[in-house]
Order: sequence, then C-alpha cells, then structure tokens
Amino acid sequence: MDLHLAGRTAVVTGGSKGIGLATVRLLLAEGARVVAASRRETPELKETGATHVAVDLSTADGARQLADTALAELGGVDVLVNNVGIGDTEDLARGSLHNLLELSDDAWRHTFDLHFYSALWVSRALLPSLAERGGTVVNVSSVAARLVGGGPADYAVSKAALSALTKVIAEQFGGQGVRAVTVSPGPVSTGVFTDPDGFIATLARQQGVTLEEFTQQMLTGFQVTTGRVSTPEEVARLIAFAASPNNITGTEFIIDGGLVKTV
Ligand SMILES: NC(=O)c1ccc[n+]([C@@H]2O[C@H](COP(=O)([O-])OP(=O)(O)OC[C@H]3O[C@@H](n4cnc5c(N)ncnc54)[C@H](OP(=O)(O)O)[C@@H]3O)[C@@H](O)[C@H]2O)c1
Repeated sequence: MDLHLAGRTAVVTGGSKGIGLATVRLLLAEGARVVAASRRETPELKETGATHVAVDLSTADGARQLADTALAELGGVDVLVNNVGIGDTEDLARGSLHNLLELSDDAWRHTFDLHFYSALWVSRALLPSLAERGGTVVNVSSVAARLVGGGPADYAVSKAALSALTKVIAEQFGGQGVRAVTVSPGPVSTGVFTDPDGFIATLARQQGVTLEEFTQQMLTGFQVTTGRVSTPEEVARLIAFAASPNNITGTEFIIDGGLVKTV
C-alpha cells in the first residue's frame, strides 16, 4: 500500500531507539525527509541518515530548539510524531514504587514535562507550519492512560493528558486542515522490556525473578490475548498509517495484543 508519504517532511521525537527509531526508518523508507530528536544520537539512528537534533525535550528550550532546527532543515513540517517518553529507568520506576502520598511534586512535574508538555511545546511551535501544509500530529500515548490504577501513576496520568491533547488539537485546528491521532501501545519490545537495566528488569529484580519470568507473568496478569509483546516495527506501521493522508482525526488506535478488554 502506498502511504503517500514520499516527499513529505516529518519530525519524530525520541527517534534514537525503540518505537521512535522504527518510525524514523519506516518514514524514510516511504520517501519522507525526517528530523529526529533525542538527548543522544545512537549509531542505529546515525545509520538511517535522518537529521538528528540533540535536545532535552523535558525542557521548553529543548522543544523550541527542535522546532527551530526542523523548520530550518525541512522548510516546513507535514508530520509530527510526539513519541518521546519513558526516559530514565529510575524516573519511570519511581511512580511504581511510591503511592500518591509519597511521590513528590518534582517527580510528577518531570514525568509531565517529558510525556505531556514536550508534546504540547513541540506541537505549539510547529502548528503554524502544520496548518499551512494540512499536516498531521501523531501522539504516542499508552494503554496505561486507560489503566491508571496499575503501574506508575504519574506516567499513566500524563499519558491520559496526552491522549486528551490529541482531541484538542484535532478540534481546534481541524478547520485548518490539521489532523491529530493517538497511537496507544500496550507492551512493546523496546529497551523498557529488553535492557538488563531497563524498567521491567528493575521490577523483576525487585521481585526476585528473571526478566523473562516477569514479562511472562505480566502478559498473563494483564491477560494479553495474543500472549506476546508488540514489536517496535508493528507500532511504527500504525504510526505511519495514522500519519498518511486520510480522513481520521481526534481518535485513538490501540495496539496491545488484546490487553484492553473494554469496548
Ligand atoms: N515500550 C513500551 O512498552 C511502551 C508501551 C506503551 C507506550 N510506550 C510509549 O512509546 C514511546 C516510545 O517508547 P519506547 O519504548 O520506544 O522508548 P525508548 O526505547 O526508551 O526510547 C525513548 C526515546 O526517547 C528519547 N528520550 C528520552 N528522554 C528524553 C529527553 N528528556 N529528551 C529527549 N529525548 C528523550 C530517547 O533517547 P535519549 O535517551 O538519548 O534521550 C529515545 O530516543 C514513549 O512515549 C512510551 O511512553 C511504550
């Protein structure tokens, strides 16, 4: 299927690894020009040939720097993928280890800066260009936004806010030809699941089980119908489809192996 992305321009936040990297690769393969942002450039991202912008997107300055560089490099933006998230293991783990009375305002702020405000800041800076070109915003949220009781609360609540932001962009800028779509993955085999020092490995160690055992327990506990985690490439395909010209806006695509049971 031709996604009609050839010649389009795209910005992918958190593009150096995981879902972001898979998205960068796919958009490039579809013929788009891509600017990717993260704090560090990985060899894998360098290999793609995408333009890298080294910024901390949990800061307004970082977001502004990305938008300025992307506009200068690309001339205008057709697709914005607000994918950045997860961040450092200890930050993500904190929300799992502490309840509301224990989790500090600073922890909540940092989580919101990375997962919600980064998307707001970059979107705001690029919306004039997106509106000029009838562009699309894809926000990478999480099924955690629907399951706020399980896992890190600050993460889940920030993702719920991000999903709501999609609706706001779709409504406020739909009249100018901008579409906005949420892609919400369940478990995905990125570093969160695979790194020996990643989030899942940290939780596994705390429970005295192996990474594989913990992952299996999690899939069973969450009743993941397919019995497996998604791959970053599978999520990237959904993101690229959402970003391709179509008449879908303000809504959410879930890719979770059947984890969410509600209609
Ligand atoms: N993996 C899952 O199971 C899963 C499930 C549901 C939703 N998601 C969502 O999918 C998105 C991608 O997740 P992933 O699993 O692919 O994560 P990942 O493999 O950890 O990649 C995260 C990306 O974000 C960048 N990043 C992190 N903190 C940053 C910061 N402060 N400033 C700039 N860049 C930063 C990372 O590069 P640097 O570290 O070099 O900055 C990297 O490029 C996230 O929004 C996540 O919440 C993931």
